[in-house]
Amino acid sequence: MIIRSETGTAAENAALAALVTRAFATAPVASGTEAEVLARLRASGALSLSLVAEADGQLVGQIAASAATIGGAAGWACLGPLAVAPEVQGGGVGSALMRAALDRLAVRGAAGAVLVGEPAYYRRFGFVADPAVVLAGVPARYVLVKPLAGPAPAGALVCAPALMP
Ligand SMILES: CC(C)(COP(=O)(O)OP(=O)(O)OC[C@H]1O[C@@H](n2cnc3c(N)ncnc32)[C@H](O)[C@@H]1OP(=O)(O)O)[C@@H](O)C(=O)NCCC(=O)NCCS
Repeated sequence: MIIRSETGTAAENAALAALVTRAFATAPVASGTEAEVLARLRASGALSLSLVAEADGQLVGQIAASAATIGGAAGWACLGPLAVAPEVQGGGVGSALMRAALDRLAVRGAAGAVLVGEPAYYRRFGFVADPAVVLAGVPARYVLVKPLAGPAPAGALVCAPALMP
């Protein structure tokens, strides 16, 4: 398996949309709009990172990041969507994508990463719920923060419009 940046071609964008839709079709928590969110992030120029996992020439996973602020402080990256093809879920692809994304964000000097997700999965990467970081409309236990350079500030989390609840 290799992990690389998305190419942005129309064909690959369509394949990624199909992959994200399939991944979330059986997810315990899903809005059904995850592929559209990825497309909106891309179309609005908000994608700061989009990595894909490829095995035997097939796309098997994807993770996106876009700029976010916490309490007005810049330098944060909001991760999502993260999606792995159903037939390879549980095989380490999601973990490899997350670690690659966090490595790249650290190299770029990001303050840290934030996401909305299941704590039981994301704690293995060092994400913790921080009650001082608030995303209106989302229960605090699902707002997860991983500082990469110093502690997280307190305040409202503001992500790209496509990711806001
Ligand atoms: C969640 C997802 C990205 C994880 O990727 P993956 O490649 O399947 O996961 P990995 O192989 O890296 O890790 C597997 C581990 O994660 C755990 N895990 C997977 N999904 C989980 C979930 N929703 N909640 C808690 N743990 C979860 C597995 O139980 C397994 O645990 P173990 O290592 O202790 O055995 C993937 O299953 C997926 O695309 N799911 C559907 C879409 C989705 O829910 N995306 C996340 C939105 S926040």
